[in-house]
Amino acid sequence: MSKIKNIGILTAGGDCGGLNAVVRGAARMADHMGVDAYIIHHGYAGLYNLVDTDHLVKLDESRVDHVLSFFAGSEAGHSRVKISKIQDPNKYLRILEGLKKFDIGGLVISGGDDTGSVMVDLAEHGFPCVHAPKTMDLDLQTYSVGGDSSANKIANFVQDIKTTGRTHNRIMIVEVFGRYTGHTAFRGGIGADADCILIPEIPVDFDEVYEHMKRYYMRRIIESDVKSGTYTIVVAEGMTDVSGKYIVDEDAGIDAFGHKKLFGAAKYVHKQLEDRMKEDAEIKKFLRENGMYVPGQFEYPEIREVVPGHLVRSGGTSAFDVSFGKQIGAASVILLLHGITGVTVYEVSGAEIKYMPTREAIKRKLVDLDMVSFYEQLDVCFGRKSVSFDPIFTEVFPENINRYY
Ligand code: F6P
Repeated sequence: MSKIKNIGILTAGGDCGGLNAVVRGAARMADHMGVDAYIIHHGYAGLYNLVDTDHLVKLDESRVDHVLSFFAGSEAGHSRVKISKIQDPNKYLRILEGLKKFDIGGLVISGGDDTGSVMVDLAEHGFPCVHAPKTMDLDLQTYSVGGDSSANKIANFVQDIKTTGRTHNRIMIVEVFGRYTGHTAFRGGIGADADCILIPEIPVDFDEVYEHMKRYYMRRIIESDVKSGTYTIVVAEGMTDVSGKYIVDEDAGIDAFGHKKLFGAAKYVHKQLEDRMKEDAEIKKFLRENGMYVPGQFEYPEIREVVPGHLVRSGGTSAFDVSFGKQIGAASVILLLHGITGVTVYEVSGAEIKYMPTREAIKRKLVDLDMVSFYEQLDVCFGRKSVSFDPIFTEVFPENINRYY
């Protein structure tokens, strides 16, 4: 069995739900396997500075009691630091010295693609480490803790925004995190019956969005006995325009991994729709016929955007993420103590611990376009002409399936 006496637990990148469950699961499993677990504070910044640290928090039975899985964020703290880019020629040696100082023989590292890429680098430099996948963006090859919690939050926000939208007959746009993929916008939007979901995977044709919006918005108001209606759009921050270009506010800056901070998608959608409404005589006629038109003050419906930002990854954690987080945290320790390194745990299924090289796990996964066309058949607008859905049938126990033709 392993010679490791102590392990370090480190969380990095954007925080989200489920990280404390990873920490708790890893610490409890370490304890069970006779190994001490310590928090490496502040992600990779803490790892780099470990050698100058006086004291590490030991996750013994009593301390772990205070790591509450339900709370999002991480008891271990985070940073966005790319080790290979640190301007210090002795950085890997410095990390080694830090680990030696506390006799830490292996690391459980929880994070997304950037964190995973640093972990691959560390593993290649000989540091034993196992990756517990975490990102609200859900853009890793496998499920990552935090995705379900964020999608639930988004669904709640979008559902809530409809009450004010309906009261003022406004078109409401909610812009959500997700970086270069639309997984959480997609799941959250579907979860809240959003009318339109705009994701980076589909360059948006705003004429399509406009026609869909008009049809739903006008019908709802016409059919309502109190003339009330709204239309909700969820837009992923990484939405692209019809030419495939990201909508970025150049002033927002870039992070340590060279990613442009994305911001402004909702504003862009707002302008696109408003420009079309101002020119649309049918809209004016509709407002007049429904007693809403006021010259100079209400000549076209209002559009409002809301950007919940960090709220979608704050607060609480879903029960699904708590259990998944505990599983991958604990399984990471088992792998580490069995001498396995440079891998990502992606599932614990009964007695089976499933893992893959982290290099593979961090390859970007996009929203499945077949699932998009599936929901297009249910008339959710994705900013393009609906694409037909061609089902493939997979039967389990075909002998027990009855057909009526
Ligand atoms: O990667 C997770 C994420 O929440 C992205 O969706 C978002 O673009 C980014 O982090 C924001 O990061 P920060 O909190 O560092 O601004």
